[in-house]
Amino acid sequence: MRYTSTTLIAAVLPCIWPFVATATSWHYEGCYTDTVGLRTLRQNFFYSSNGMSIEACEQFCEAGGYSLAGIEYSDECYCDTTLRMTASQADGSTCFMPCSGNTSEVCGGPNRLSIYSTGSSYPTTNDDTVNGYAYVGCVSDSVAARTLSSFATVEGGADAMTVSACIAACKAQGHSYAGVEYGGECWCDDQLEHGAGLIDQALCSSPCRGNFSEYCGGSNALNVYAIPSVATLSR
Ligand SMILES: *[C@@H]1O[C@H](CO)[C@@H](O)[C@H](O)[C@H]1NC(C)=O
Ligand SMILES: *[C@@H]1O[C@H](CO)[C@@H](O)[C@H](O)[C@H]1NC(C)=O
Repeated sequence: MRYTSTTLIAAVLPCIWPFVATATSWHYEGCYTDTVGLRTLRQNFFYSSNGMSIEACEQFCEAGGYSLAGIEYSDECYCDTTLRMTASQADGSTCFMPCSGNTSEVCGGPNRLSIYSTGSSYPTTNDDTVNGYAYVGCVSDSVAARTLSSFATVEGGADAMTVSACIAACKAQGHSYAGVEYGGECWCDDQLEHGAGLIDQALCSSPCRGNFSEYCGGSNALNVYAIPSVATLSR
């Protein structure tokens, strides 16, 4: 779905855009959700009602220095350097629309982006179940009233923090909740204290210091994981 006010300008852009072949290799990352109000890829874009293809979008994004290119709804191309935190991976079958400039290729779907990347890693939230702990969400924290009260260290210290390292540390302490914060902190507990609740996922956007492909919370924000049978919050 498009911003109609920009459609006309964008439709003209590809006619004048100098498509230069490059040596960079792009690969498919998957089908991701998108919404008009909170774009998953939001640094640049163009539309083309008859000239969109995977290659056209990749070249447009590459020319702007972006590492991610996403095509949506047959004819929309979006670029960014990171996947914004409002996005989640969707069922691949929901990206099914043929590209407006090459019907042999798939260019996303309604509110769905077919995302390609140049391979430079970008962080995502690890929402797998890790070592028996399921992802709960991004949860508020404060220094004065800790949401998870027990600080845990991991081997290698804060510079080695990852989601799985924190979960292992909390598990070793016998705690059913684990939370990573501010890139390098690990906190454990058996419940969420002080009435803490879910906050905007975008506030949990610090890459883990031990693995830049994963998010480890944010400032006063925890990516919380818990053993499902005891977790009281769900996404
Ligand atoms: C259309 O897409 C197919 C599949 O990616 C590709 O092999 C073909 O070269 C493309 N055609 C044009 C004209 O770009
Ligand atoms: C880093 O995190 C990503 C995403 O969770 C994971 O796929 C990858 O295996 C991790 N790398 C290491 C070295 O643990």
